[in-house]
Amino acid sequence: MSTTNLLSTQDLSDAGLQAILKDAHAFVDHIGHRRDLTETLRGRNLVLVFFEPSTRTRLSFETAAHRLGASTVVFQPSGSSVEKGESLRDTFATIDAMRFDAMIMRHGQDGIHQEVASVVSMPVISAGEGTRSHPTQGLLDASALLERLGTLKGARLAVVGDVRHSRVARSQIDVCLRLGAEIAVCAPPEFQPDPADPLSALPTVATIDDALEWCTVISMLRIQRERIVDGAIPDLPQYRSRYALTVDRLQAHPSVVAIHPGPVNIGVEMDADVIDHERSLIHRQVTHGVAVRMAVISRILTNHHSIF
Ligand code: CP
Repeated sequence: MSTTNLLSTQDLSDAGLQAILKDAHAFVDHIGHRRDLTETLRGRNLVLVFFEPSTRTRLSFETAAHRLGASTVVFQPSGSSVEKGESLRDTFATIDAMRFDAMIMRHGQDGIHQEVASVVSMPVISAGEGTRSHPTQGLLDASALLERLGTLKGARLAVVGDVRHSRVARSQIDVCLRLGAEIAVCAPPEFQPDPADPLSALPTVATIDDALEWCTVISMLRIQRERIVDGAIPDLPQYRSRYALTVDRLQAHPSVVAIHPGPVNIGVEMDADVIDHERSLIHRQVTHGVAVRMAVISRILTNHHSIF
């Protein structure tokens, strides 16, 4: 694999991981002060290839590129020649021939990012791959937590909900473990990691009340209905009683902060009033998403110091 692709947080060296988070910390400040950074990537052109819906990731990659002076174009299958039967191979060959400086790619199929990265002539940055990886989400989660907590060393992160189908959980857990956090998983049997999955080796807690007793960070996950092929979804009222984060539950644990990648299934894994709670970092995660993506794009496109 080319060393200019970011397909997984595991592609990053420890020094690269720290460098991205340090840059992101500075970019959060730049965003707040509206400093002009448009000379950084002036003249560069990025293509965003999104085969799945997105609000946060797509908009934040676009705004990150624009804040650094790069331009963007977006490819989505709807309205493209994919609808006329063009193959994925030809679609990516066509995009590659337009000579962009980097591709930001989201696709629901595990492994396709690697295939595309091996044939195109530009760096590929994952914006979410199947159940496997969402590297910039893991990085932005850590960035928002570092801002709030100062360090992740000794933090106890309980990851609650649909762990089995979650690319967010995989990237978040990798980054947080490398930064010194302890992790526990809290999920119904349908959503626990497959026994062959390395995540199955993590300690577990039975219910969200147990998780809140143990943790300093409660990391809530969306039920990934679009990735549940066997139809195994728990009974929702029961799910809510054992795994949902309500304001009452959060209020009862004053030292716990809550994160969620969004979008939230309100009333399923989380109530609406949790989102705006002073110990919810959900809006801050979105801001850090812009900063982290500025850090990733600028490092990969300028390649001054390798992050791999
Ligand atoms: N967290 C996340 O990936 O959100 P979007 O699907 O809105 O990009």
